Amino acid sequence: MRWAPSAASRGGNGRVEAPVTLRGYLLCVFAAFGGILFGYDSGYISGVLAMENFQHTFGSAPDYTISTMQKSLIVSILSAGTFFGALIAGSVADWIGRRSTIIAGCIIFSVGVVLQVAASSVGVLVPGRLIAGFGVGFVSAIIILYMSEVAPKAVRGAIVSGYQFFITIGLMLASVVDQGTHAVDNSGSYRIPMGLQWLWALILGTGLFLLPESPRHYVKKGRLDDAAISLSKLRGQPIDSPYIRDELAELVANYRFESEHMQSSWLDCFRGGWAPSGNFRRVFLGIALQMMQQWTGVNFIFYYGTTFFKQVGIKNEFLISIITTIVNVVSTPISFWTIEKLGRRMLLIYGAVGMLVCEFIIAIVGTVDEGSKAAGLCLIVFTCLYIFCFATTWGPAAWVVIGEIFPLPIRAKGVALSTASNWLWNFVIGYITPYMVDEDKGDMKAKVFFVWGATCTMCVLFAYFLVPETKGLSLEQVDRMLEETTPRKSAKWQPTDSYANGDADKIDAITSQNLEHREKV
Ligand code: BGC
Repeated sequence: MRWAPSAASRGGNGRVEAPVTLRGYLLCVFAAFGGILFGYDSGYISGVLAMENFQHTFGSAPDYTISTMQKSLIVSILSAGTFFGALIAGSVADWIGRRSTIIAGCIIFSVGVVLQVAASSVGVLVPGRLIAGFGVGFVSAIIILYMSEVAPKAVRGAIVSGYQFFITIGLMLASVVDQGTHAVDNSGSYRIPMGLQWLWALILGTGLFLLPESPRHYVKKGRLDDAAISLSKLRGQPIDSPYIRDELAELVANYRFESEHMQSSWLDCFRGGWAPSGNFRRVFLGIALQMMQQWTGVNFIFYYGTTFFKQVGIKNEFLISIITTIVNVVSTPISFWTIEKLGRRMLLIYGAVGMLVCEFIIAIVGTVDEGSKAAGLCLIVFTCLYIFCFATTWGPAAWVVIGEIFPLPIRAKGVALSTASNWLWNFVIGYITPYMVDEDKGDMKAKVFFVWGATCTMCVLFAYFLVPETKGLSLEQVDRMLEETTPRKSAKWQPTDSYANGDADKIDAITSQNLEHREKV
């Protein structure tokens, strides 16, 4: 069955892609489920910290308070774990494979969850969060890599956006579960939200056992017959079909070409200077893109929204917070379509424009008419519009682009560095925000949105000048495009040639020989 929603390839070299089947689509999209780990884990802790039972167990007598330092340690240690986890995963994924690294991440994560659930002191809880964070770091970096490498090019953006969709579901589930258990009169109130994390890891880890490894990983390891088997499962085509032969030939030829020109060490990630196709430029782009995604200010809403809404005099602050997570979930699927139709670059440019307009409106109205009903209403409406703009653009597109811009020799490390940057800035912004808005500190109130409006303006400039259009190209064609054009002209670039011209037969001969040999053995 042909099933290619919004398929939009830019072709020109005569190669025909295998039709996207529903089964193939579902195989590729399953890994997106890992987004739940990311979203749920970042989301559940704020509600748990406020639970009475939790404070009684972890706080110190006589009034069972948890000190500010302990609180920020409990919250931020996860980001420390994820940061290092993501970085290390970059090497592990090249070594044991993408799929196995994600499964390893789930196992590490589970150890962290067991410690958290068993903990009755901060001394056990913190290492538990650190270890779980380490696992989330593995999962969050390598899922993007895996999905980008297994997906057919026409729906790659939509498939990777699925990951963002699951992040938003994870965030929403966390606030719903916290809401549901906070009144439980025993340790179940916080142990249930903690224990549930394990379920997500179990589903992801078990499901991945059944999925094939990334064919590009096998190509990198020189295991062409395994790459062919993997591709044939993913595309739902017989191993000797012209689709599989052609796609494999392109992967192999491109990898050979690239590895003649570059090595794959950490140091090599920083070589090549400022040329658009240079490794340094691409790594800079990935790291900066994830930094900018945090600079949009989105986590101000998700981490501090409740406190902030209350501070500026809005009643029902919990309800409003849940509404923002729901807007986030329902808006994200729009990007499945727009990311392939309008492209990554357009989404990033217009999304940031939309967000900065909302932010400046909130800031201006909130400052001029502080505390009024109108300012409150304006804050709620424009916060929801702002989340809509984020969820349909920067939320998914930042992840999609980092999966597409690196050449295979350094792809795992490039994606890992970019993901680590997301976690680093997630931490930095989470850490400095209270200093800007707390009443006894900066007390900026709605003026804080001037800061986010300004950082969002930088996001527009960044996307306009530096982000290339990668829609509809195979990952190998993206390499070519970066060599031949500039970000601003990239949307018009068409692939004209293939590295694999004439190679398909040779590679086919090698893989069939190997496969025959394996069958005999
Ligand atoms: C970001 C997270 C954010 C989430 C909100 C993700 O893409 O990386 O930091 O909390 O989107 O949906």
